[in-house]
Amino acid sequence: MRILVTGGAGFIGSEFVRSTLLSPRAKVSDVRVTVLDKLSYAGVRENLDPVADHPRYSFVHGDIGDADTLDRVLPGHDAVVHFAAETHVDRSIAGSAPFVTTNVLGTQRLLDAARRHGVARFLHVSTDEVYGSIPEGSWTEDSPLAPNSPYAATKAASDLLVLAAHRTHGMDVVVTRCSNNYGPYQFPEKVIPLFVTRLLDGGTVPLYGDGQHVRDWLHVSDHCRGIELALRHGRAGEVYHIGGGTELTNEQLTGLLLAATGAGWDRVERVPDRKGHDARYSLRYDKAAAELGYRPRVDFARGLAATVSWYAEHRSWWEPLRRRAARAAA
Ligand SMILES: NC(=O)c1ccc[n+]([C@@H]2O[C@H](COP(=O)([O-])OP(=O)(O)OC[C@H]3O[C@@H](n4cnc5c(N)ncnc54)[C@H](O)[C@@H]3O)[C@@H](O)[C@H]2O)c1
Repeated sequence: MRILVTGGAGFIGSEFVRSTLLSPRAKVSDVRVTVLDKLSYAGVRENLDPVADHPRYSFVHGDIGDADTLDRVLPGHDAVVHFAAETHVDRSIAGSAPFVTTNVLGTQRLLDAARRHGVARFLHVSTDEVYGSIPEGSWTEDSPLAPNSPYAATKAASDLLVLAAHRTHGMDVVVTRCSNNYGPYQFPEKVIPLFVTRLLDGGTVPLYGDGQHVRDWLHVSDHCRGIELALRHGRAGEVYHIGGGTELTNEQLTGLLLAATGAGWDRVERVPDRKGHDARYSLRYDKAAAELGYRPRVDFARGLAATVSWYAEHRSWWEPLRRRAARAAA
């Protein structure tokens, strides 16, 4: 099988590529991977260094919105696994145009090109944020979409375009929606790496509002296993939740990160709440459990401890990226 992975130089896409090519089961697989990535401020080519010399890997520097690039790269691929997106909610609040360009228009161009070139399966990676906020209970795959941030609105639009391609053109598509991911190689503007790197540097961390917003946490390796299961066994035209099962308020998460880095609450700065901040996310994932055999494996306490250690040991990875994040925000 030949897979085109868009956004493969990002946090989750690079984990998918590394696990696809380097895990023990990869030794007996014939999967070939092409990464297509525009290397936006969040794209980090070094994330793919562990596979750089792999005989079944290649990298293309390009934009999913560029039809010529897609026509050059896509022929011969059996599947697309589509991670590429603008992903930072705060940036979407500051300016949503790049989110519409990549997440909506880019996905449409990629879908059209996949259909033109007869790609057999299109897996679209999406998020629980498309549902908005849920005060209690958990979303099922049939829950109505009610996104609140511009980021979530563009992801919802892209989900609908992907599902429409199935209903209109009979394309074989699968959509996965997952919880908040954590793990190594996450760009240091997202909450866990932002907090860990600032605490490791002796700085303060910004906690939004009353800190009572609830997020469901999923280790990135569990997410990628869920995607692989959905790619292989998901039914065409279906949505699958890849849930984490560990719900925490941001204040609880902050407490765990302070403890893991030996810091106290005096290092926490309360800052005004994010505009339109969703109060709670929660996914049911019994459909993926029943149909795909998915369940998260990484215990949160163990996964978080390993993640904090990874950042402590990889300063040379994140120090330049923090400067890059600051430049991109200016
Ligand atoms: N991080 C999470 O917790 C989370 C949760 C749910 C869903 N998701 C989804 O998973 C996917 C990956 O998220 P991530 O956290 O790895 O993101 P990321 O920001 O770390 O990586 C995004 C990657 O896409 C690339 N990219 C951006 N625009 C592009 C374009 N026009 N053409 C080609 N490449 C482009 C970037 O260079 C980067 O390598 C996204 O679709 C996101 O919506 C993420």
